[in-house]
Amino acid sequence: MLAGCGGSQSTLNPHSHAATDIANLFWVMMAVSFGGLALITGLLVLAWVRRGRRGFGDPDDPHPGEKPSWFVVVGMGVVFPLMVVTALFIVGNWAIVNVTQAPAASSTAMTVDAIGHQWYWEFRYPGTKVVTADELHIPVGTRVNLVATTADVIHSFWVPELNRKIDTIPGQQNRILLYANKVGVYRGDCAEFCGLQHAHMGMLVYVQPKAKFRAWLRKQDAPAAGPTTAAARRGERVFLSGSASCSSCHTIRGTPARGTVGPDLTHVGSRTTLASLTIPNTRAELDRWLTNPQLVKPGNRMPTLSLTPSDRQALVAYLESLR
Ligand code: CUA
Repeated sequence: MLAGCGGSQSTLNPHSHAATDIANLFWVMMAVSFGGLALITGLLVLAWVRRGRRGFGDPDDPHPGEKPSWFVVVGMGVVFPLMVVTALFIVGNWAIVNVTQAPAASSTAMTVDAIGHQWYWEFRYPGTKVVTADELHIPVGTRVNLVATTADVIHSFWVPELNRKIDTIPGQQNRILLYANKVGVYRGDCAEFCGLQHAHMGMLVYVQPKAKFRAWLRKQDAPAAGPTTAAARRGERVFLSGSASCSSCHTIRGTPARGTVGPDLTHVGSRTTLASLTIPNTRAELDRWLTNPQLVKPGNRMPTLSLTPSDRQALVAYLESLR
């Protein structure tokens, strides 16, 4: 229980107005619950200490202890709990309304589309060609309208330090306000069971200073730069060749690769992780992934390629060059 109270994915470590409201609601609920527990425990102890004593009223009453006190029965038993529950209802509703309100398009500075896939996150920036996977970049102190949809089943986009979760429902657009008041990296996860690799559907939200974010967006908007080394050139040929068939599932803008089954790889080399935060994006891990993706993340849609080791190393060199 205590392990859930800290770390990089804690709702008790808020970095936005919405997340602060949620954390405050938790503490209010917690305080009132413990207050109630203390009161009831206290009354029980009091009853035990005073057991056998005579009650109020007539000393000749044969059952003095059973006389009900209206204050205790109606006041403490009905009125007081009703007041507490009503107060919690009002506070809870206020917080729900505060964090739930879908942002009006006019009140937000930018829109990002988050599309859930089995099992990765696709992020698109309308008005640009930018499509990335698992690593969302947003500018600090900016109201971002996040539009959540799904390519297959129900997922749930959840970055606990920034806001509540929002489900991705087939055939439906759900919106949530994403706002961060501090630069940093915030971890999120899919919060709705969506199949075998639900546990490996993480994401990182990079909250950047505005100028840095704009530079990132410009760079991501550009098509992939052509390979410059011999190994990378060979890797590109492998990628586009019919035998590896990478291009039937993946897009690399600037090349004929236009597949839409797997993540867009136009700038895959600029990401820090692969396969939805399952492995770090290093040459060794990418090589391991390309050798047997089913061993790294069983059940995912990536087929095992039968590449020669040298073709595979060329492919790694090419993909890592896509920055
Ligand atoms: Cu996607 Cu769980």
